[in-house]
Amino acid sequence: MTSAFGKVIILGEHAVVHGHPALAAAIDRRISIRCEQATGPTSLDVARWDLRVAVGDPHPLAEALAELARLTGADRLGLRLDADAELPPAAGLGSSAALMVAVVRALAGAAGRHLTDGEVEEIAGAGERFFHANPSGIDVALAARGGVGLFRRGAGLTPVAAAPVALAVGLSGEPRRTADMVGRVAAELARAPERTAAGLAEMGRAAELAAAEWAAGRIDEVGARLGRAHEILAGIGLSTPAIDRMVETAGAAGASGAKLTGAGGGGAVIALAPGREQEVVAAWRALGHEAFVASAGAVLDGARAVREKNR
Ligand code: MEV
Repeated sequence: MTSAFGKVIILGEHAVVHGHPALAAAIDRRISIRCEQATGPTSLDVARWDLRVAVGDPHPLAEALAELARLTGADRLGLRLDADAELPPAAGLGSSAALMVAVVRALAGAAGRHLTDGEVEEIAGAGERFFHANPSGIDVALAARGGVGLFRRGAGLTPVAAAPVALAVGLSGEPRRTADMVGRVAAELARAPERTAAGLAEMGRAAELAAAEWAAGRIDEVGARLGRAHEILAGIGLSTPAIDRMVETAGAAGASGAKLTGAGGGGAVIALAPGREQEVVAAWRALGHEAFVASAGAVLDGARAVREKNR
């Protein structure tokens, strides 16, 4: 069994695509894969997403699977991969990166190869490109490594020594494509270059400051930054009425801050509400949204880490 984490971007989505840092954390919801020898082409079944593909199918996931098999040296094997997805798809929680990382680990294991985390990231990143034209790499970095980190394009993930925190996560229920949202930011940069670039830079600076605050345990200060980041993201056209309502509702339920997370245009909302996470979750559920409390900053538990390393 191999697995990989979902993630939340606390501050700095989109800014990270344009070279600024982003603060992100793995969450304790993951994708796990069971791998068996099979006859015929290698297949991947994600039952909870109602998705099944095999190498050779005309589907981006099948193309990604073929590429990952080639890059891990498993392309001559016939394998059946069964994924258990604790993450919703297309919600900004890093589901496709987690799937790619777990698949890479499964394929490499079947091919008898041991990969470093850096190699896993690189190969999973090649898979991600079948879904998002130009991913920054933040999602695969968190999926592979876990914990909390500041990510900068080119430099990769710098771990932040911060204790995990509880975080309320709510799903708007509106699916969207990351590539479309990245394109929306590019269009806004062309239309209103100064204002948009200043907003992205401000979110990057906030991510750096928040990393130090989180490491010092000052979670309310991190939370207080989320509202401004949401305002900037909404100003670029990345929010929706449903997301704005969820952000307002979280504030009314006692959150110190809330914002969209990931690409926006739908997807998930996060709220930092120390001691009041369940109230925020209840308020979102009352609006009809799926919501849960996650541990942000998740790390592989000792037993599982040893099992995976020894596979
Ligand atoms: C990543 O989850 C969201 C974006 O920052 C895109 C990226 O970093 O590749 C919008």
